[in-house]
Amino acid sequence: MKPISLTQFLIEERRAGYGNAELGQLIEVVARACKRISVATGKGALGGVLGEAGTGNIQGEAQKKLDVISNEILLEANAWGGHLAACASEEMEHPQPIPDAYPKGGYLLLFDPLDGSSNIDVNISVGTIFSVLKRPEGHADGVDTTEFLQPGIEQVAAGYVVYGSCTLLVLTIGHGTHVFTLDREVGSFVLTRRDAMIPEETSEFAVNMSNQRFWEAPMQRYVGDLLIGKEGPRGRDFNMRWVASMVADVHRILTRGGFFSYPMDSKIKAKGQDGKLRLMYEANPMAFIVEQAGGAASTGHQRIMEVSPAELHQRVPVFLGSRTEVEAAERYHAEA
Ligand code: AHG
Ligand code: MN
Ligand code: MN
Repeated sequence: MKPISLTQFLIEERRAGYGNAELGQLIEVVARACKRISVATGKGALGGVLGEAGTGNIQGEAQKKLDVISNEILLEANAWGGHLAACASEEMEHPQPIPDAYPKGGYLLLFDPLDGSSNIDVNISVGTIFSVLKRPEGHADGVDTTEFLQPGIEQVAAGYVVYGSCTLLVLTIGHGTHVFTLDREVGSFVLTRRDAMIPEETSEFAVNMSNQRFWEAPMQRYVGDLLIGKEGPRGRDFNMRWVASMVADVHRILTRGGFFSYPMDSKIKAKGQDGKLRLMYEANPMAFIVEQAGGAASTGHQRIMEVSPAELHQRVPVFLGSRTEVEAAERYHAEA
């Protein structure tokens, strides 16, 4: 089969009635920025990109050099295209409007520029996650933060790039979830898996077990039953994986199935937060990708993509992956 580049894929999707030229160009610009991030991460110590930046972000988290570099690459790449009205990033308190020097477009871009920061310095996969929304009609020149506060079902595109042993782009524009592999020699993303489907059933779960004693009762019971395995109510043994880069954990699930969770816990509650993962930059785009691949994504009580955001940096509990397992976790929460 002749290789299909991201460019060709987007043009053919458009001809089939999915997406439009503006959206296609926007996605290509994001993908190009991610190639630069891939090059930067790939240089490691030789590029001087490892270690702390010495600054903190709006979430009160210490920034790594690569968090800052990736954020700058994405902002710079997306400034001039004319497709966007503004960008919002996990690393910035307020959305960044498109500079006056450039024309403005009808889309809003949100991103987690570098996901899995704790893994940068130890050479474990990290990634970028992004989400595209339409700017609501009838707004004046300056973009207001409230324009971003749309539920995940309004996303027109979402994707992630994994910077791993190879660099992969996973993309949905609401018509399936597709995987592209970066051909490093040619410098282009090539379609390597069309319509990825997450197996409905799984015997593999992903969670940070060190938080177990801080979890709420339904999560304790649910994981407790997974651990009892064959002898318990679930009637089979479960395996566990936890990369601590959401992109890598989600990508494993997209490839061979699985269940990912970052539940609410008392440590998170003590910080006055509603979860660990960010709704707009992590939970929503991943939920869109996973649902388009036949999986499910829930807060334990509600479909993630139906959560009405109250603020840009809002956090939520996340349960996603193989459908039957997400439903099982929801049952434990409903019974509580
Ligand atoms: P980020 O690096 O963008 O802050 O995100 C890290 C997230 C996510 O990628 C991962 O699943 C989770 O935090 C890991 O959390 P723990 O270190 O608590 O396991
Ligand atoms: Mn992240
Ligand atoms: Mn991040």
